[in-house]
Amino acid sequence: MSTTILLTGGAGYIGSHTLIALHEAGYQPVILDNFSNSHPAVLERLERITGQPVRVERGDVLETPWVEAVLRRHQPVGVVHFAGDKAVGESVANPLKYFHNNIGGAVSLLRAMAAVHADGTAPAAPTLVFSSSATVYGDPASVPITEDFPRSHTNPYGHSKLVIEDMLTALRTASPVWRVGVLRYFNPVGAHPSGLIGEDPADIPNNLMPYVTQVAVGQRPYLNVYGNDYPTPDGTGVRDYIHVQDLAAGHVAALQALLGGSESFTVNLGTGHGHSVLEVVKAFEAASGRPVPYAFAPRRAGDVAQCYADAALAKRLLGWEARHTLHEMCADAWRWQSGNPNGYRG
Ligand code: NAD
Ligand code: UD1
Repeated sequence: MSTTILLTGGAGYIGSHTLIALHEAGYQPVILDNFSNSHPAVLERLERITGQPVRVERGDVLETPWVEAVLRRHQPVGVVHFAGDKAVGESVANPLKYFHNNIGGAVSLLRAMAAVHADGTAPAAPTLVFSSSATVYGDPASVPITEDFPRSHTNPYGHSKLVIEDMLTALRTASPVWRVGVLRYFNPVGAHPSGLIGEDPADIPNNLMPYVTQVAVGQRPYLNVYGNDYPTPDGTGVRDYIHVQDLAAGHVAALQALLGGSESFTVNLGTGHGHSVLEVVKAFEAASGRPVPYAFAPRRAGDVAQCYADAALAKRLLGWEARHTLHEMCADAWRWQSGNPNGYRG
């Protein structure tokens, strides 16, 4: 039986950490990526960590015949679909890019997987793990958030995740042979403890942790804390930060479950605990030994006060739970940023 797993978008932040976790679990990962939001230098880093050549197919998931050829060539028993665009602000400014690349990319991949299954060349039932997001909960009525909360969207990025989730449901209704694990990530942060790979935003970071690390390393003068009048203990926004290593382990658990014959599922990948912006700043200062100056700024449009997971379902279905502390998330993010101030471009 093949142990190959195809990772679309596998050169990106979450995909690269998942590749290592899959390698450590005995799988043979193959990356499919067009490097639109990643750097080929990650590949050499992955080879140093795994001690093995990294198998890569460079190309676009939108090219269905090529994706089909990749599937025939590598015969994966499962696919993890990370490829897509993820910048919320850009999705508001350029919605068609998001509908095209995210929804179009998913359609293309699913059609390619269906084709190799239909003609009997696939080694197993079509098995897919999909990168969804807590953004599908919109502005939740309460916390913690369970998977049965109503879904909504506030921007085209979130809308694209919602449409893909619905598409996967329709596909399973039409063809029950599909095995699908939908993973709703909360706020992935941190880096591999080696400090060799991590998050490498191409532009000014939108997300909190990469912004904080750039302030600490001296690339930006201070952090804008968006809002200090939320109904939270210290007035700043509360989120469920999860170490990317835990998230990577969640993908291994999801694949093991699906390949072991489990029903399809949709689960939250979070820690179940919320931390405020100021708690993250304090934790980061403690882990890095560097000051993180900040100033309060108005609330950011589209932000919610609190968002954290009820993580019980993933534990029950997959035997998975997050293990790393906020301190470890900060220490590992700092090791990556301080060792690679210019990310992979340095
Ligand atoms: P990332 O941008 O680092 O990785 C995505 C990868 O996909 C990149 O390497 C990019 O080059 C590749 N890609 C994009 N379009 C492609 C295409 N058409 N063909 C081939 N490759 C393509 O992002 P990430 O943070 O690793 O996120 C991975 C997935 O998880 C995304 O779908 C994202 O929406 C989702 N997600 C991320 C977060 C987060 O905070 N990082 C949170 C929730 C969900
Ligand atoms: C954001 C996206 C969400 C997406 C997720 C991916 C928005 C509105 N939401 O979530 O759709 O799925 O990223 O990881 O963009 N903060 C600051 N200063 C900063 C940056 C952030 O104070 O410079 C605060 C935010 O107001 C928030 C918290 O830090 O309270 C976390 O922000 P961020 O890392 O951007 O994540 P989300 O807003 O949860």
